[in-house]
Amino acid sequence: MNSHDLLLKYNVPVPRYTSYPTVPFWKEKIPSQSDWAHLVKAKFEASNGVEGMSLYIHLPYCESLCTYCGCNTRITVNHSVEIPYIHTVLKEWELYLNLFNDKPNIKDLHLGGGTPTFFKPENLKLLIEGISLNCNIHPQAEFSFEAHPDNTTEAHLQVLYDLNFRRLSLGIQDFDPIVQDTIHRFQSVAQVAEVTQQARRIGYTSINYDIIYGLPKQTEKSIQNTIAEVIRLKPNRIAYYSYAHVPWHKPGQRKFTEADLPSGTEKRRLYEIGKLMLLDEGYLDIGMDHFSMPNEAMYLAQQNKSLHRNFMGYTDKKTQLLLGLGVSAISDAGNVYAQNVKTIENYRQQIEQGNWAIHKGYILDNKDIYIKELITELICNFEVTWSENYFETDEILNIYDRLLEMHNDKLIVLDGLTIQVTPLGHTFIRNICSVFDMYMYHDTQLKEEKFSNAV
Ligand SMILES: C[S@@+](CC[C@H](N)C(=O)[O-])C[C@H]1O[C@@H](n2cnc3c(N)ncnc32)[C@H](O)[C@@H]1O
Repeated sequence: MNSHDLLLKYNVPVPRYTSYPTVPFWKEKIPSQSDWAHLVKAKFEASNGVEGMSLYIHLPYCESLCTYCGCNTRITVNHSVEIPYIHTVLKEWELYLNLFNDKPNIKDLHLGGGTPTFFKPENLKLLIEGISLNCNIHPQAEFSFEAHPDNTTEAHLQVLYDLNFRRLSLGIQDFDPIVQDTIHRFQSVAQVAEVTQQARRIGYTSINYDIIYGLPKQTEKSIQNTIAEVIRLKPNRIAYYSYAHVPWHKPGQRKFTEADLPSGTEKRRLYEIGKLMLLDEGYLDIGMDHFSMPNEAMYLAQQNKSLHRNFMGYTDKKTQLLLGLGVSAISDAGNVYAQNVKTIENYRQQIEQGNWAIHKGYILDNKDIYIKELITELICNFEVTWSENYFETDEILNIYDRLLEMHNDKLIVLDGLTIQVTPLGHTFIRNICSVFDMYMYHDTQLKEEKFSNAV
C-alpha cells in the first residue's frame, strides 16, 4: 500500500493517549470527594518519600484569543484577576497539605496555560513561594513553564530562574505572517530570538519551542521558512505538534475556514519536510511529535527506555502522583484520574467552600491499569510485549485481527506477542495504541465527535 493509501486508511479520529482511559470516557462526579482524598493520600504515602511527586499548575489567562488553541483559556486584559486566582490556587494546595502526613517532595513542577507569562513576575513569585513554603524540593527536581514570546520579559525570566526554574517552553506555532494572521497569534523572529538569548544568558539549561504543522494557510514553503528560523535559534527541544482540529469543542477554530486547512496528505508532507530539516541539523526524533538535541535528558530517557507520558506529553520524570492545581487541571494518582471544573467562577466557589474542585474523572480497575501501562510503553518505546490474560475472547480476536492488518500494512512487525513499530508505523502510533483501547472498541456511539484525526 503506498503512503497516500495508508493515510486515507489510517487518518481517522484517534486519541493522543496522554491518559488511558481517555478523557471522553471519564465519568461526571467521579471520584467522589471522599474517594479522591482517600486515593490521593494512599498514593502520596506510598510514593512521596523516595520518588517524590509532580505538580502542574494551570494559569488560564491570555490577553488575546489564538483561534487554533485547544487549551482551557480565559481571555482578558484585566490584570486585577491575577491575585485572586493565585490565592485560590494556594488555597487548593492547602487542602492537599492538610491531607498529607509529611512534606511533599516536589520532583517536577510545571506552569501551563493559558499563558503563565500573562501574570506579573512578582505574582508568579508569590505563587511559587506559597507553593514551596511547606515542601521539600527533590534533589533531581525540574521546574518549567510555558511562555508567550510576546509578553515574556527579562524580569519574568530572572524571577523564575531565582525560584529554580531551568526550563521554559516558548509557544511559537508558526513564523509566517499569513498563518499568524489567520490563527490570530503573533510573535516575530526577533522577539523569540531576544527571549531565547536572555534566557540563555540568565542560565536556563533547556529551551523548548512549540511548533504546529497542519495550521490553516500553511504551505511547504512557509513551513520550510519557519523551521529554518527555528534551527537558526537552536532550541534544545522542539515539540512539533500535529494541529488538532476540534471545533465542536473549541468554537474559536471556526474563525478560519476549514478549506484553508491542509488535507491529510498535505499535512503529512508538512511534517515530513520539518522532520527532515530537524534531523539534518542533528536533532533526534524522540517520540510522537518531539525532537531534541542529543545531550537532552529526554533523549537519554528514550535511549534507556525510561521515557514516560502524561498530560503535558512526554517527560523524563516519572512519578506515581501528579497533582493538577487550578481550573480544568488534571491529576493522575495512578489508579484514579480527576479533572477540575472548567470555569474559574465554579473553581473558586468549590475551593472557597473547602471542597475538591473535581468535576469528572475515572477510577481504574486492574485491566485499565494494565492497558494504561501497555499503551504508555508502546507510545514511549515503540515496542511492547502484551499478554492475553486481561482481555475477553472477542477482544483478543479483535486485537489479533487489527494487529495482523497493521503487520501486513508494514506499520508493525509482529513476533508472537511482541510488537515492534516500524519507522513507517511511527506516523500511525496513535492508531496502533488504539488497538488496545477497550473503551473505543466497546463504544456504541462511535459517530460522536471525540478526537482529532490521527495525522
Ligand atoms: C497551553 S499552550 C500554551 C502556550 C502559551 N499560552 C503561549 O501562548 O505561548 C501549549 C501548547 O499547546 C499547543 N496547542 C494548543 N492548541 C493546539 C491545537 N489545537 N493543536 C495542536 N497543538 C496545540 C501549542 O503548541 C501551544 O504552544
